[in-house]
Amino acid sequence: MTISETSKDSSTALDGAPEIAYTIPGMAQDAGAQVVKNLQERLNALTDLHLTLKHVHWNVVGPNFIGVHEMLDPQVDSVREMADSVAERISAMGGSPVGTPGHLVAQRSWDDYSIGRAGTIEHLGALDLVYQGVIADYRAAIESVGELDPITEDMLIDHSTDLEQFHWFVRAHLENAGGEVSSSGAKSEVQAAKQAGEKRFGE
Ligand SMILES: [Fe+2]
Repeated sequence: MTISETSKDSSTALDGAPEIAYTIPGMAQDAGAQVVKNLQERLNALTDLHLTLKHVHWNVVGPNFIGVHEMLDPQVDSVREMADSVAERISAMGGSPVGTPGHLVAQRSWDDYSIGRAGTIEHLGALDLVYQGVIADYRAAIESVGELDPITEDMLIDHSTDLEQFHWFVRAHLENAGGEVSSSGAKSEVQAAKQAGEKRFGE
């Protein structure tokens, strides 16, 4: 399922951008609507990410438990703040942020995080893939809103600085002294977890 396949409800215009009655002074309304559409996608990604990080916080077991368990809570808090700033930007731009779980599941283009209780290194391997997806989409969003709204672009750049640092924290557990990352090349979270579990560079 893709976002474009599921964004055809009556509250959306032809190109998937929402109907808005006003936007930021000095901005064209259709540009505002495009930015709002992009921000809703960031909100979906951030909400999914902070819930997934908490799920991992609860489910990690084994060596390095306390380090990984405690590393994740500040990431949860920070990503929740990012979600709040994105949602409030949508409101400031004349849109209506949607934060309900059903909407998120219907709109997202990725599957639910699929790993339950597992070793720290396996979860970190899977989180490497999660962060890769979120960060790549953030880069694309920065590119597309940059032409329309430098204020939103600036906010997304700030978020990316932290997201890319959090990704490094995760990846550093998966890396050996030669710079090889155990989860590299994996195409799914399960595969990334398996590779990380087999190579165990971080332990
Ligand atoms: Fe906790």
